[in-house]
Amino acid sequence: MPGGPLRAKAQRGQPPGDPFWRRTVGSRLPISARSISKIEMSTRRERHEFASDNTAPICPEALAALEEANATAAPSYGEDRWTARVCEQVRELFETDCEVFLVFNGTAANALALAQICQSFHSVICHQHAHIHTDECGAPEFFTKGSKLLVIGGADGKIDIAQAEAVIARQPELHAHKPRAISITQATEFGTVYTCEEIAAIADFAQRRKLLLHMDGARFANAIAALDCHPKDVTWELGVDVLCFGGTKNGVGAGELVIFFKKELAREFDYRVKQAGQLASKLRFLAAPWTALLKDGVWLRNAQHANRAARELAQRLADETKIDKYIPVEANSVFVRIQGNVATALRARGWDFYKFVEPDVYRLMCSWATSESDIADLIADLKD
Ligand SMILES: Cc1ncc(COP(=O)(O)O)c(C=O)c1O
Repeated sequence: MPGGPLRAKAQRGQPPGDPFWRRTVGSRLPISARSISKIEMSTRRERHEFASDNTAPICPEALAALEEANATAAPSYGEDRWTARVCEQVRELFETDCEVFLVFNGTAANALALAQICQSFHSVICHQHAHIHTDECGAPEFFTKGSKLLVIGGADGKIDIAQAEAVIARQPELHAHKPRAISITQATEFGTVYTCEEIAAIADFAQRRKLLLHMDGARFANAIAALDCHPKDVTWELGVDVLCFGGTKNGVGAGELVIFFKKELAREFDYRVKQAGQLASKLRFLAAPWTALLKDGVWLRNAQHANRAARELAQRLADETKIDKYIPVEANSVFVRIQGNVATALRARGWDFYKFVEPDVYRLMCSWATSESDIADLIADLKD
């Protein structure tokens, strides 16, 4: 069974001729993360690389920005220059004037964004596998003080508009919650990516039904990398009203953006954020790493790396272990069918990963930090 320190393996695993791996993997891991992994893996040999994209370290650019923001005292509660800069950078990136807020995590971003656009008697249409429905402990319902999630299906984790139409038709007007918003996840919880056309169709439906369009973009960067388009092409230009743009899975330690493309929707949102305990007093430590992500396209390169690692993993699984993907690999996750005894054996060797669909569909996640040797180690353990 392969083992040994991550740094040594990352260096061994880089084919000298492949600039992608050489550029983005070994050299970009922060020194501290390398040495922690080295100690842990030689003793416990835990492997969290594919469990989630939030098991990854902070990327070097974000870490350097954090250190720079730590050099002196600075104004608090978002009055600092880093927070102002992030807002400017977001407006530049999306090429539009918009309202930008920073909160600690994705659950808060989604729940507060929905609370901002819904009243307690409203409802939100979402996919049955939407994170807001399955993984946020009722935060959207809690922060909206009663808005109902109207859960529908759709292939590959994407909303089926016919089902959305049907669920609206079933609402007995005054006696039900009033449909107010539709929420889509980009990239989806199954690692698939809505195309521009698919988002346009949902936006058109939303407009016809007088719904606002919320996008959970915990992996928005991966979606843009997959689509190879401009961020505005799949957001405000099509009619997305509010985007939760994820940074944690992209390379920062914490901090998600809530972006209102219709500025009037953001009225008093700062109070909502504060009341929810989501206004960091030292906000610069969330903002500074984001300035680094948004400078010179780091966010996009991180996502491109993660997506490419997922494609490589899927390919090697198919070629060398005959384990086939369960769903197309479009962003940074690989869903596979693995027999229970194989999953148990992998876990016994220290690999950490989650089952997503009963009885045997598991998710393997890649990140900005996934190295070729991580992939090689997993494949080797599967073949062993
Ligand atoms: C689709 C999606 N939305 C939002 C989140 C954000 O969740 P958290 O509150 O853990 O940051 C996640 C994290 O796994 C996610 O996968």
